[in-house]
Formats: sequence, structure tokens, C-alpha cells
Amino acid sequence: MRFKQNFNELVLKRNSIRKYDFKAQLTKDELAEIENLLVSLPRLHKEEGEFSFKIIDKHTYDTTTGGKFKIQSPHYIMFYGDKSCDKALQNIGYVGQLLCLELVAIDIGSVWLGGTVQKVEQTDTKGEFIICIGFGRKAEDESFGVNANKRKKLDAVAEYDKNLENNPHIQLLENARLAASAMNLQPWFFVSDLAANKIHVYRKDPKILKVLKLPATLITMQKIDIGIAIAHFASTEFTTEQNVAERKGYVYETTLVF
Ligand SMILES: Cc1cc2nc3c(=O)[nH]c(=O)nc-3n(C[C@H](O)[C@H](O)[C@H](O)COP(=O)(O)O)c2cc1C
Repeated sequence: MRFKQNFNELVLKRNSIRKYDFKAQLTKDELAEIENLLVSLPRLHKEEGEFSFKIIDKHTYDTTTGGKFKIQSPHYIMFYGDKSCDKALQNIGYVGQLLCLELVAIDIGSVWLGGTVQKVEQTDTKGEFIICIGFGRKAEDESFGVNANKRKKLDAVAEYDKNLENNPHIQLLENARLAASAMNLQPWFFVSDLAANKIHVYRKDPKILKVLKLPATLITMQKIDIGIAIAHFASTEFTTEQNVAERKGYVYETTLVF
């Protein structure tokens, strides 16, 4: 898989692409390859958190759903599953983001689209619609490259040993810092335990969202964000374990064991 090579560079190259070249549609073979990749990419949770997907083009989308995404792209990956299952939401985020990294390696742009959920038909033979990713060849005036300045500083999203020279967790955390998130809210927090070679993953307690009167669908999106952030740790092999380490103001999600 391409994402294993040059992982750090792909993290720096990926950003949301919102303008596409509609004359340069992907070929049937290219789309079939992407579909195969989606099937074969590793799941974060293997036993639970099943989801399904289908790839459609803009024409199919426009004619079958009668709605329009604000962001128009030549192709869309529609994800379906059980919205109340956190593991399914994390799996979608994880696999979807690994795919976005794979795509940018071959100069194909992508964007997560969660803000248009209410306009899409809510059910399909494949289940309840959850989110989609628009993708295709970018327009000429769009460019690749993450804007690291638009992210919180590493110290605001992670606890780690800063005094240790060459702390190997810092590059892992820096990659996760640059992950995509709904409304760029970056609802994650990471705690590095270098002695055990583990990183605990947390999500901001959604109670704060209620205070800010943000939509409930954002909580669903933030569970997807956690899967996306965990995908940015995939430069190296890890397993997950649950070892509830509480933290005030956050929901404990999982522990990555490297
Ligand atoms: C779960 C999720 C939902 C998103 N929904 C939208 C959306 O509806 N419209 C949009 O333009 N961007 C959407 N985005 C893209 C984010 O705005 C973007 O990832 C964030 O601002 C960081 O920018 P970057 O991806 O260019 O690094 C979404 C991202 C995620 C992860």
C-alpha cells in the first residue's frame, strides 16, 4: 500500500480539495482500483463497527438524490452504517482517511463532506447514510499541501516528554495534529506514555458543544474525526487496547500500542 511509504510527506501533502477538474474524470479502471482499495484497507476495529460504501459519480448523485452538495466533485464515496455505533464511525474515519492519503499519493484530491447530510437520502440498501468523501482530479488553480498554521499547536493537543531529545512519539503526534476534522475543530487529545510505547486517545467532551449550541450531528462527525486522527498514526504498526485512563473534559477513546 502506498500510504506506508513516504507517510509523513503524504500527511503534509493532503488537504481538502474543493475545486475539481470535471473534464478529467477518473476512468472505470481507476475507480475499480479505488473500490478494491477501500475493501482491502485495514479496519481499525475488525470484529465490530461494520460499514458499507458505494462510489457514485456526480451525475448519479444529482439525478438519484435530487440534492446538491455545496462542494461539487466528479466522484463521491458514500458511507453507510449504524450512526449509533461509535466503532463504525471510527472505522469510516480511519479507512476513509487512509484512502485520502493513498489518493493524494497519485495526485487525486479529496474532501470529507459531512455538512450536507440532511440533503442526502437517509437510507439505502446499504444502510443509513453517514458521510461522504468527494474526490477527483483537482482544478488547476487548487494546490496540495496542508496548512499547518490552521491547526492547534502540538502542546494544545498532546501531552508528551518535550525534554527528551529525539522522542520518537513526537513525529507520530505531529502527523495526528495535521489530520482533517469537521469544521477544523480538532476535537482530539493525545497522551504519550513512552515507557510503555503507548498513546492514549481522547475526544473533547461533547457537553461543551451543547454550551456553544453547535448541531448534534457534529458529535457524530467528531467520532469520525477520531478515526481520521488515528489513521494519521498508521506510519507504523499498532494495535489497540482499552485501558480506561480518565481525563477531565475528555472522553477516553482508545489506547494505541506500538
Ligand atoms: C468529518 C468531516 C466533515 C467535513 N465536512 C465538510 C463539509 O461539509 N464541507 C467542507 O467544505 N469541508 C468539510 N470538511 C473538511 C474540513 O473543513 C477540513 O478537513 C478542515 O478545515 C481542515 O482542512 P484541511 O482538510 O484542508 O487540512 C470535513 C472534514 C471532516 C473530517
